[in-house]
This record gives sequence, C-alpha cells and structure tokens, in this order.
Amino acid sequence: MPKLFIQTLGCAMNSRDSEHMIAQLKEKEGYSTTEDFREADLILINTCSVRERPVHKLFSELGGFNKHKKPSAKIGVCGCTASHLGEEIIKRAPYVNFVLGARNVSRITEVLHKDKAVEVDINYDESEFAFDDFRTSTVKAFINISIGCDKSCTFCIVPKTRGEEISIPADLIVGEARKVVATGAKEIFLLGQNVNNYGRRFSGDVEKINFTGLLRQLSEIGDLERIRFTSPHPFHMDDEFIEEFARNPKICKSMHMPLQSGSTKVLKDMKRGYTKEWFINRVEKLRKEAPDVSISTDIIVAFPGESDEDFAETIDVMKKVKFDQIFSFKYSPRPHTEAEHFTNEVDGEVASDRLAYLQTLNNEIIDALKLPLIGNIYRVYFEELIRDNYVSGRSDNNHVVKVKGSEELLGEFREVKITATGRTILTGEIVA
Ligand code: 5AD
Ligand code: SF4
Repeated sequence: MPKLFIQTLGCAMNSRDSEHMIAQLKEKEGYSTTEDFREADLILINTCSVRERPVHKLFSELGGFNKHKKPSAKIGVCGCTASHLGEEIIKRAPYVNFVLGARNVSRITEVLHKDKAVEVDINYDESEFAFDDFRTSTVKAFINISIGCDKSCTFCIVPKTRGEEISIPADLIVGEARKVVATGAKEIFLLGQNVNNYGRRFSGDVEKINFTGLLRQLSEIGDLERIRFTSPHPFHMDDEFIEEFARNPKICKSMHMPLQSGSTKVLKDMKRGYTKEWFINRVEKLRKEAPDVSISTDIIVAFPGESDEDFAETIDVMKKVKFDQIFSFKYSPRPHTEAEHFTNEVDGEVASDRLAYLQTLNNEIIDALKLPLIGNIYRVYFEELIRDNYVSGRSDNNHVVKVKGSEELLGEFREVKITATGRTILTGEIVA
C-alpha cells in the first residue's frame, strides 16, 4: 500500500480540501496516510497564501522534504499558493512533481500520474463534484457549501486563488449532512468564503435557496444536533438571517464577524461594503435576538493609509463590542490585489506597535469576560482527547471546555460546571 504524507496549512477550507484529496487517493489509488514524511511515497503540502510569511516558508520546507524523503517519493504542492504561483513553483523547486490549485483538488489522482503537471484553473467547476468519504473526525463534519469568493476586498488574494463564487446545490449539501449524521456526527460545520451569500450563483439548473433557507432545511435532519458555519460576511447580515440564527435551536450561538477595521474610511479603501455603524448595529441586533451569542472577528492593522485616528476607531469598536476572540494580523501586501498598488504604506514599527497594543487590550477584554464564567453550567459536546487524560469540547456558544475523562466521552453531550478559566480554554467538571 503506498503511503501519503499530507501537511495542511491555513483555514478550515484547506482542511476540508485535504480530506477530499485523501479520500480520492485512498479510493482510487489505494493510499494510506502516514505522519512521517520519510516513509511516504507521496508528500502533499496544502498551502495558504493569504499572508506573505507562509509563502516564504513553503520553499524552505520543500527543500527539507526533498532532502530527507524516500528517493522515489513524489512531492505535490496544492492549495492557494499553488494557484497563485503556478508553474513558478516548479521553476524554483524543480524536484516538485506537480502543482494543484485550490479550485482543482478533485483532480489529484489525474495530476499524480502526469509529471510536472500544473492544474490551477480558477474557473474549474467543482460545485457538483461528488467527493468520496474521508473525515478526520467522526464526531463533527466539515461540509463545503460554496467555493470561491465574489467580493473584491482590496487586500485579499482569495478571489484570485479560489476563483468566482459558486454555491453547491442544496440537495448535495443536505445529502452529505444526512450521510455524516447517519455515521455518528451530531455536529456539522458549514464552510464557505462567504456563507451568508449562499445561493448567489449555482452552476446548474437547481433549486435556488438562500443561506437562511439552507439552514432551515438542514435543521430538519432528525439526529443532527448542532450546526456551525464560517465565515459569514457582515455586509450580508440582514434581519432575516440574524432572526433565523437566533430562533433556530440547532444553530450554535457563535458568530464569526470579520470586522477588518473599525474605521469607515479604511473599510471603504478595503471595499468591504459596510460602515463602522452598520457593523455595530448588526452586533446590537444579534445580541438583542441571541443574548448568549459569542462573537469572534478578524482585524487587519496598518492597512495602507490607516492613520492614528483610523486605528483609534478600531479600538473603539473593540471596546464597544468586546469580542470573545480576535484573530489579528498586520497588513501583508499580496500580489494580484488592488491594495498591492497603494503607496501610502504604514511604517513597519508603527504597524508592530498597533498590533501589540490591540493584542494587549484584547487579552484584558478576554480575561474580564472569562472570569465571571466560573460556576456557569454549559452543555458541552466532546470532540477530542487532549493531554493528561482530559477531553475537550465546545459549549453551544463556542467556549472550549476540558474535563477529566476518556474516549467514551467523544461524541457525547454533558452538562459541565466551570471550575477554572483561561484565555483559550475553560476547565470544568461533569454535573449531568
Ligand atoms: N494581510 C493581512 N491579513 C489578511 N487577511 C486577508 N488578507 C490579508 C492580508 N493581505 C486576513 C483577514 C481575513 C483573514 C482570513 O486573513 O483578516 O479575514
Ligand atoms: Fe477575501 Fe473579502 Fe472574499 Fe473574505 S470576502 S475571501 S476577505 S475577498
């Protein structure tokens, strides 16, 4: 049996794409997976290109793989960096056997047999492709609902690597959800670059529904208990969506709302399509309808032209909203984006100071939010074994909670009382 080593970088979409590729290679080529690249017959790196650093790291990593791999082993570069660099990867690292873009993962078994193949067509339509089964987890399942992104945020390379947005037909999504629920998963995690834009474009003549309609259909699946999704776009958060989110007991009360900046001027330069006021208004509506909701966000500091006053607007939104989690990044210029040509860059030291300030404030906010949770009881769905005989899972509103326990808890719900808090994980004991 040939062995596959796969390294996955980046977002949940990439994790799911890796699962798709593993499924294809197992089914059609008889591969099994290994954790040790030295014994692998095929080494795949599923890359991310959203910021510059991982792209630099790719080539040093490739060098390491090439040096220590089995002489006959093939190396394939997949994912977003494959899409954006294409054949340049083979020019810079000639030992790479093939390059497979993020939009083309269903072609893995084709390129495997074509030396120096470069498949990076961003118009390739995978929206109705029936991927075989392979899932890393049996308790929860990632399900793609759309591919690509139709927005044109000026900082973002994704529309150039994943192509234009196509929604996957609802009957395929519901069928996939039924299948994973039948094999024991009680939670599904819907994935798309812009999930609440679902239904904007289908490639075939299929039932046209929007994201709210899709959520309603999925929640009718009897044994399915929880639905999560990422990422919704603040621009598309209309009242209908927020009300369905709040009303539907199967939808977990956890919302990722990528703010990017709190300054309306910067948001305009980023072409995000909303203002600071709209964002805060949507948070208020969400908290009014679903008071327990946890809200996470992404923020970019030092976008070109961001003044001290603009940055202060971001801090103002943070203080008003008190996000439960923030993923914060220094702006990183990306090829093929509009902002790449903006000349009003922010000084590097100023950028670092802003990021450090934001992260310190965020830690203070999180500490203040978590401390009062001691004594609360949450219904936790257990997902994985972690160190020292602990099992971890999530509350409906996305608190990560660990308790002493073993694998019998995996895939089970328990009522857990919180006994200690930390920034990323709460500790508790099972009470029922
Ligand atoms: N520079 C820094 N951060 C970026 N992101 C996307 N593009 C860039 C960039 N050029 C961040 C955004 C996005 C998250 C996935 O990555 O905050 O929401
Ligand atoms: Fe990138 Fe904007 Fe699309 Fe998100 S919505 S993937 S930030 S272009």
